[in-house]
Amino acid sequence: MSVSSEKKLHGRRKSDGQDISLDLAKPVSIGILGLGTVGCGTVNVLARNAEEIARRAGRRIEIMQASARDLNKKRPCPTHGIKLVQDPWDVVRNPDIEVIVELIGGTDPARALIREAIAQRKHVVTANKALIATHGNEIFAAAQKRGVMVAFEAAVAGGIPIIKAVREGLTGNRIEWLAGIINGTGNFILTEMREKGRDFDDVLAEAQRLGYAEADPTFDIEGIDAAHKLTILAAIAFGIPLQFDKAYVEGISRITREDVMYAEELGYCIKHLGIARRVDGGVELRVHPTLIPNRRIIANVDGVMNAVLVKGDAVGPTLFYGAGAGADPTASAVVADLVDVVRALTTDPNNRVPHLAFQPDALSDLPILPMEQVETSYYLRMRADDRPGVLADVTRILGDLGISIEAILQKEPHEDESVVPIIILTHRIKEEYMNAAIAQIETLDVIAGSVARIRLEHLRRDWI
Ligand code: NDP
Ligand code: HSE
Repeated sequence: MSVSSEKKLHGRRKSDGQDISLDLAKPVSIGILGLGTVGCGTVNVLARNAEEIARRAGRRIEIMQASARDLNKKRPCPTHGIKLVQDPWDVVRNPDIEVIVELIGGTDPARALIREAIAQRKHVVTANKALIATHGNEIFAAAQKRGVMVAFEAAVAGGIPIIKAVREGLTGNRIEWLAGIINGTGNFILTEMREKGRDFDDVLAEAQRLGYAEADPTFDIEGIDAAHKLTILAAIAFGIPLQFDKAYVEGISRITREDVMYAEELGYCIKHLGIARRVDGGVELRVHPTLIPNRRIIANVDGVMNAVLVKGDAVGPTLFYGAGAGADPTASAVVADLVDVVRALTTDPNNRVPHLAFQPDALSDLPILPMEQVETSYYLRMRADDRPGVLADVTRILGDLGISIEAILQKEPHEDESVVPIIILTHRIKEEYMNAAIAQIETLDVIAGSVARIRLEHLRRDWI
């Protein structure tokens, strides 16, 4: 171990030569806001790996103070030695604390607490993707002005160090696209429904018990959480400002068992993907259920696991995989940020890695494309009268709009029904043409009800 005498680190080996204890100069004092799933996970990891973390950071990290709403609640983490308070403002305003770790979530009071921490020249670590995606531009500008860091690795894909990978590891690349399963709760629900035939609500309740879900689980189910994360990833990948309001967002609540089954029959699996892609004229920013070929590795990412595919022009496709939610995996990312912050405490603010990977005055104004301009393939399911000419009517509408068909499947009618399910896979076409086609198909007398549409991506390495 190399030891800096300046920092007065003293390594002492036991006789077996394995255990090294450090007498570190002055610990870094941190304050944690929120002792829920991630807050307690962070306390546990900091306690369990204190020695290794200190050896990496160069100084010990000491939790001086922490806040939670209910101080009588039993916590699954050791709190002795930590001053527990109910009011998070006490922590933020504590002059002895150098780094604030915000693990409350949501906008209020998290935004005001972080702004105050920055105003007091404290560094911030947060797992709050909702806040970063919606108020990150303002928060980073304030941090830049004050010369402090705001680190947010845990905000995207739980324990996977994807921010670091895209922002630093792939910094030599022009990122072309990224696509990921970036909501653990949603992937857990889809996997349990597919593999065990479990009910949606029952699996969601389990995800909540396990601490995977957001305080408001509609964020997970309706794709909002994934869109927050995608907004952050796209900003870092393409050097654009955070623009959550421009993301197309669709969740998993309308996926039926029937669609899962038919997709499988056709060699695909349905995953909830966040996709950010650089195309002529702008950037696609979209979150929706997606059919992907079963043979892709990402199609086999199940349960609470997340995976993000990133395609760089130099490196080609890369894949990052790991737990997307949960106490310890998320704490792993929070603590990694803490170590980064401690290491950089004495560096010149102008020489730090920029928050959004690109220098703040070098962000691009590439527009986010409206969904109608996005080009993708489609899976369509409709219920049609079982009589001659029906398929011809449907394919004529598609053909007239320039939509070419890759496969058609006609299934047996369900019991007591006179209509038959028809499944069509199409080649790539702009969404506006598909919208027009669906609207026309739904007006046909021979079609019952509405047409179900799920987008389909092959995720080929030459997808640019
Ligand atoms: P929890 O709900 O488990 O914990 C929230 C904590 O904040 C609790 O200690 C709670 O106090 C406290 N708190 C809640 N509201 C307030 C308030 N208005 N004022 C002061 N304190 C408050 O959330 P998580 O730990 O799951 O999530 C924390 C953050 O991490 C969120 O931004 C979330 O999106 C993010 N995240 C979560 C992951 C996960 O797997 N859970 C993974 C990645 C990111 P009390 O305990 O007394 O109720
Ligand atoms: N609710 C989020 C998820 C937590 O399930 O992915 C991790 O960000």
